[in-house]
This record gives sequence, structure tokens and C-alpha cells, in this order.
Amino acid sequence: MASQVLVAANRGPLSYDLDSDGTLGARRGGGGLVSGLSAALAEQPGALWICAALSPGDREAVRRGVAEPGVRMLDIDPDTYNAAYNGIANSVLWFTHHHLYDIPRTPVFDAAFRRQWGAYTAYNRAFAEALAEEAGRGACVLVQDYHLALVPGMLRELRPDLRIAHFTHTPWASHEFLQMLPDDIRTDLLWGMLGADLLGFHTWAWAHSFLGSARLDDARGTAEPGMPSGTDGERYVAKNPNSPVRHLRTDVAVFPLGVDADELRRLAGRPEVDERLAELRAAIGDRRTIVRVDRTELSKNIVRGLLAYRELLATRPEWHGRVVHLASAYPSRQDLPEYRAYTQAVRDLAAEINAEYGTPAWEPVLLSVQDDFARSLALYRMADVALVNPVRDGMNLVAKEIPVISEAGCALVLSTGAGAYGELRADALTVNPYDVSATAEALHAALTMPAEDRAARTKRLATAATSLPPAAWFTTQLTALRAVPN
Ligand code: G6P
Repeated sequence: MASQVLVAANRGPLSYDLDSDGTLGARRGGGGLVSGLSAALAEQPGALWICAALSPGDREAVRRGVAEPGVRMLDIDPDTYNAAYNGIANSVLWFTHHHLYDIPRTPVFDAAFRRQWGAYTAYNRAFAEALAEEAGRGACVLVQDYHLALVPGMLRELRPDLRIAHFTHTPWASHEFLQMLPDDIRTDLLWGMLGADLLGFHTWAWAHSFLGSARLDDARGTAEPGMPSGTDGERYVAKNPNSPVRHLRTDVAVFPLGVDADELRRLAGRPEVDERLAELRAAIGDRRTIVRVDRTELSKNIVRGLLAYRELLATRPEWHGRVVHLASAYPSRQDLPEYRAYTQAVRDLAAEINAEYGTPAWEPVLLSVQDDFARSLALYRMADVALVNPVRDGMNLVAKEIPVISEAGCALVLSTGAGAYGELRADALTVNPYDVSATAEALHAALTMPAEDRAARTKRLATAATSLPPAAWFTTQLTALRAVPN
């Protein structure tokens, strides 16, 4: 049956493991996007989620015709997938949007890059074709993230009757960074996005970057009145009549994803989290805690966070033996050499700090480099101080989750680079993510913040963090999309 609400995302709500005896076992997919969307879609009967087959088990499930209701996996040829996902999405678009190039050496846009771009286009086309096939007349399609930036334009060509939205979960690159991309590719990217009726971002900083690039580029246009009421956005009318997509009006709006407090508390109260908490408490005693939880993504700035902690210990010896930095850095994208090197740099620096300051009775840094959600939730519960210092980040849900869960109230040290900065800055201690000394000072201020102040701030932070939980985040976009004149 044709669907009326469709989501397209690289990662699906579940993934299959293929056992040695040939049986397939389903397990829940990972990451914030997946948990947010899964909760939101559970409330949309008949919705369909189109995703890529990621594991050998997923590919086998597609071959055997095994499918969960509401999910369709696309078995994209592995070389094409690898070039699109690791090559373009995670090595070019992700680096561009996070301003993370090592300029003297990268990026290099050569023939190999052109081949990868061909694969990225083919991968986007596979999604657009599947959506065109599955969508009912006039259906709403919500496309997710930088992996699928070309889908809106492609789908518009195939199915002009659909209402199409795209949501970017990362920052959007400033015009200067986007201009590094070869001109024809940048134009394809902008027009791909402008094929949507509605473009969503986490904050105005990223939405304005997008609008700035579109205005300054071949997709020149202007803002016009007419956004649906209740939507925080701007209607953009592109002026190029020769546009590759015959669709010239796009609403650009902001939907800051928040957290579901009840669900988070339920998860944090499970027995395995209690067990982890007890183990950690036994290991650190009544010492104060500075907590951080991240994927080992280059944007998370874990190394500078550790340098700041080292500087705190160097400049404020009164903390020796009295504080522990609990860092959970679970591995991400280990197929890419930059990520492997970064993960190693984090391990090395943590070991150096322990060698420099540790004593038989006190290990200053407890680093865990594994995907252990129960441990992360235990860390949230015991956080006195939360350190969230990304150089640039779409939203950063950790900054929103910790205040909801922390038992004694936590002081949040938050960088200006986090998408969450705009909503949380009033009650956080804010830092420039590159300024290690300022971060060290903010850690000291956070550790010495009076208990009542800490508790009051934590309460306000939790309120701000939960103002648009995933289900509401999704339905608000759906309402805005349905309000688009068709
Ligand atoms: C980062 C980005 C998200 C993206 C996710 C994909 O966290 O900020 O926007 O959706 O990575 O992660 P994956 O593990 O699927 O590559």
C-alpha cells in the first residue's frame, strides 16, 4: 500500500546480524537520529522508513525478502555505497560543514573525487526512486541529513505532487567553506536541497549559512513573506528561472531537536545503569566528577578538552586527588584514517595525564573507548560538571541530556560551537572551544559553583532541553510541510 508519510535516512531503525548458522537477528540501529526518529514514527501509523542496507546481515535480509513492517532497506552496491558514505558524505560534506579541513593538505578535488561524487549521485538516486515508488499521491516525504542532499531535487522531478522536506542534523558550512567545493558540485548540492518545500535546521546559525550560500551562489533568490504561522522560518524564492528543478519556493525553518525526559529517565533507571553507577562510585569514591560523553568525531574537540583538564591540574593543584574526569568516547567511523588517528590521540593524551598526575590511589582520567550506553547514562547521573566543547556541532544532544539526568545537579561547560549553545547559554558556563586556558578556568568555576546555583541552573537547563522532544520535533515539521501550498 502506498504510504502517506515517508522518511529517508542513510541509517535505518534496525540492523540485522547474520549468525554463522545463517540465521538473521534484528537489533536496534544506533545514534541520536535513529532514536529520535524511531520514537516519532511510532506515532505515525502506516509510515515508511527507507534506509540503506549497511551490514552483511542487512544485505542478506533484503535478498531473502525479510522486512520489518514500515521499513524498506535499499541494497546499494557496496563499492557505490562506500564511495558515497565514506568518500563523499563523511570525508567531504561532513568536513565542509564542520570546517574541519587541514587546509595545506586537504581537500583535494581530483578525478577520484569526481568518481566518488558519481557514486554519491547514484546513491541519492536510489533513494529518490524508491521514495517515488512508495509514496502515495500528495504524500509527505522527510529526507534526513547530508548523506541525501540531492534527493529533494531528484524526487521533485520524479514526483511533482509530493510535499518534500529535508532536515540537516549537522551545521551548514559558511559560504567560504562551501565555496571550496567545485562550482558545478556546489550548484548541484544547493539545487538538490532547494528541490524541497521545507528545509529544516537545528539553529538559525546553520539556516542562515544555507541561505547565505544560496543567495550568493547560482541559486540567487530573496526572502519573501508567507511562512505558515507558528513556524520559525523564512520563505526563500530562488530567482533562477533555468533551475534544474522546476520548483522555486522553499521554506527554510528552524526545529531545534530536544530530548524526551520521561524516556531518558526510564532508560537511566534500568538495573544495568544502577550496576555501572555502583562500579564507578566504588572506583572514584566521593571525588568530584567532570563528565563528557561523545562519539570520537573530530568535531567533538575531545583532545582540547583533555588539554584543558591537564591545565586545570597544572594551575590548580588543590584539585589533585579530589576530582576525576570521566570520559566516554565511543568509536565512530573507524573506516576513516583521520578518525582512527583521532581516537588514538585521545587515548594517548588520557594516558599521559594519568602518568603525569596519577598516584596509586587516584587515576585522574577514566577513559572508556567503547559503545556502552548504560555506562554513559551512569556518567550522566553522577555528573557534577558536564564538559561539552565541540568546535562545531549541529545540535549536541549530550548537552541537553545530562541536565535532565544528573542526580545532584550539574554545571554545564558549553562551547559556543554547539548548536545547543543558543538555547542553553543563559545557564551554562560558555567557552570558546579553541581556548584551552579559558576552558580550564570554566572547569574550575563549574567545580566551585555553589550548590543552590547549580541546582537552579540545572532545572532551567532541563526545561530548555525538553521543549521540543523528538515526537513534537517531527510532528511540527510535518504540520509545516502539510501547510505548504501545493
Ligand atoms: C553525526 C552527525 C549526524 C549524522 C550522524 C551519522 O553525528 O552529526 O548528523 O546523522 O553523524 O552517523 P553515522 O554513524 O550514521 O555515520
